[in-house]
Amino acid sequence: MKLADDLYYVGAHDPGLKFFDVIVPTERGTTYNAYLIRGEKTALIETVHDDFSDQLFDNIRRICPIEDIDYVICDHTEPDHSGSLGKLLDIAPDVTVYGSAPAIKNLKNILNRDFRSVIAKNGLVLDLGGYTLKFLSAPNLHWPDSVFTWCEELKTVFTCDFLGCHYCAETVDVDITDDKAYLEELERYYTYIFGPFPQAVQKGVSIIRELAPETVCTSHGPVLRAKVKSTADLYEAWADRMISGLDPHKISIFYVSAYGYTKAMAQALAEGASSAGTKADIYEITGTDKAVLAEAVRTSAAYMFGSPTLNRDALPPVWDVLGMVSPITDRNKPALMFGSFGWSGEACGNMADRARGIGLKVDEELVKICFAPTEDDLAQLREKGRSFASWIM
Ligand code: FEO
Repeated sequence: MKLADDLYYVGAHDPGLKFFDVIVPTERGTTYNAYLIRGEKTALIETVHDDFSDQLFDNIRRICPIEDIDYVICDHTEPDHSGSLGKLLDIAPDVTVYGSAPAIKNLKNILNRDFRSVIAKNGLVLDLGGYTLKFLSAPNLHWPDSVFTWCEELKTVFTCDFLGCHYCAETVDVDITDDKAYLEELERYYTYIFGPFPQAVQKGVSIIRELAPETVCTSHGPVLRAKVKSTADLYEAWADRMISGLDPHKISIFYVSAYGYTKAMAQALAEGASSAGTKADIYEITGTDKAVLAEAVRTSAAYMFGSPTLNRDALPPVWDVLGMVSPITDRNKPALMFGSFGWSGEACGNMADRARGIGLKVDEELVKICFAPTEDDLAQLREKGRSFASWIM
């Protein structure tokens, strides 16, 4: 499909996809966008998921033989974009692949074969004869390997994941008419893919503003024309919200309790932390909406996790909340484990192991009480809450 003189869309549609990367819901499917630019030389920008290689190759062959491709630009190596590169190299082994240094390294490990490559350093220009491609480093959008590719003559930037969206319309070159559905998918995509990288998103938006493109060719969802500014503004607003949302004096206390003993511990710890001047919010996990829990995780400076021990482990709802903690944006936040137990009491230790594994700074004193806390226990818990609060005061 022609997008502009000498610029073609050759990507693949996956309308039935239900989840991307195992966990990202894709209610409206997705597209794996790839583009062909034809100057005196021909460049393919991105490939597609391996399962859709045939769609890619059929689309390319409508424009030119695959053997005519001189360059493949790999802006980001996640296999939804690099997946069909191996098959393409089988057909056209002489193509030269352009990508950042980590991208070329990744591709060598993905393909396990030799191929011609050039490191697309920041600012490097590839002259296609009639069109130029300038590579702009854009790390963490969405992996450290990411670059944007700018074509000055077409006023078009290729951003791969950035500003993209899992949204499969009949064609990618369409003005979105169902804004509500598109925006829902755009925010969901942003949250899952870019939520951990707000600072990188801010840099990405500033690159886009500086380039002032007429067209943004992403690698998922619609090509942006009229929506370039509004989409960049939304990405920026979401990144700003993520960065500014942290309350440096807030501790969130997440717990489950079978008979009220761990709940009593949570309340005493909260009283102690509050008396030290922190905000200590208690969340009974099973009765709290997941979005509320995720927001508490995101905006808190420290955590406490409480669970009784059942069959030598913590209860599953606590693992769900620990799974909401980002090893990137929540790294090094202090965390304390507590819980009542009857026999062996492994819950606290297991929660601590998981918390350490995702980069939290764990209080090594595991707060465990056999069955019901006494008045003395509760007084000690208040003192523990107070001393833990000093970590963030
Ligand atoms: Fe669409 Fe990060 O790959």
